[in-house]
Amino acid sequence: MSPENVTTISLRQFKKTARKIVCVTAYDCPTARMLNRAGADIILVGDSLGMTVLGYETTIPVTMEDMVRHTRAVVRGNAGCLVTADLPFLSCGAGDERAVLNAGRLLQEGGAHAVKIEGGEFAAELVGKMVRAAIPVMGHIGLTPQSVFQLGGYRVQGRGNAAAERLRRDARVLQDAGIFALVLECIPAELAGEISRELEIPTIGIGAGPDCDGQVLVCHDLLGISTGVNPKFVKRYAEVGEISLKAFSEFAREVRAGKFPGPEHSFK
Ligand code: KIV
Repeated sequence: MSPENVTTISLRQFKKTARKIVCVTAYDCPTARMLNRAGADIILVGDSLGMTVLGYETTIPVTMEDMVRHTRAVVRGNAGCLVTADLPFLSCGAGDERAVLNAGRLLQEGGAHAVKIEGGEFAAELVGKMVRAAIPVMGHIGLTPQSVFQLGGYRVQGRGNAAAERLRRDARVLQDAGIFALVLECIPAELAGEISRELEIPTIGIGAGPDCDGQVLVCHDLLGISTGVNPKFVKRYAEVGEISLKAFSEFAREVRAGKFPGPEHSFK
């Protein structure tokens, strides 16, 4: 490991010096290479993979096998980012021993540096067991997509005093259990700011306003490849979907018109 590599320790240092943390999801090797060149700190192999790449409607069908395969692909393209892989639905819900082994698989077989687990206070005991097994864990509270059916849809969390207090408590308990960073998804900006100031570990926001210690976006949203509803918190930095569609259509037109391949693309 080179000294320039981002580690769980450097993330804490970034928080201390108010240097914002940059995190983007990726599911393949070329995207990981580009994120390294672009200066990302964390690559998150998110289970958003299920929607962005595998064509599911939720993250629930994503399996450990999917996560291991895509984590390996990302790790092949990684140089110095901290690669964190999501623990998918039910990988943690069927007993702590199995959960720790699943987390270990993402490091041993996938090559990730850390794992991310969704859930608040109820996940803290399990987080402690993973940390004691030398597995670095990132937490994730607020809108936790694996609980979409329990939450009644994708909606802002932590509104109202009781819900906000619950999230504050979740954050503190998870920090005490040993997480190295915490994703705050879809919660009011003011609450996210308060939680970020209360914690010693860094927070990474998505739909959680500007006062988190870092920000994460889903690669396909950021690039403008995702179709359908564009959540309010997404900024599309490019329209790669439109550019790709144009290129595919042009190729189809040229093949049918006999224009491709030309002499410059043919062997004599
Ligand atoms: O799966 C994912 O991409 C995530 C981010 C949205 C934080 O969990």
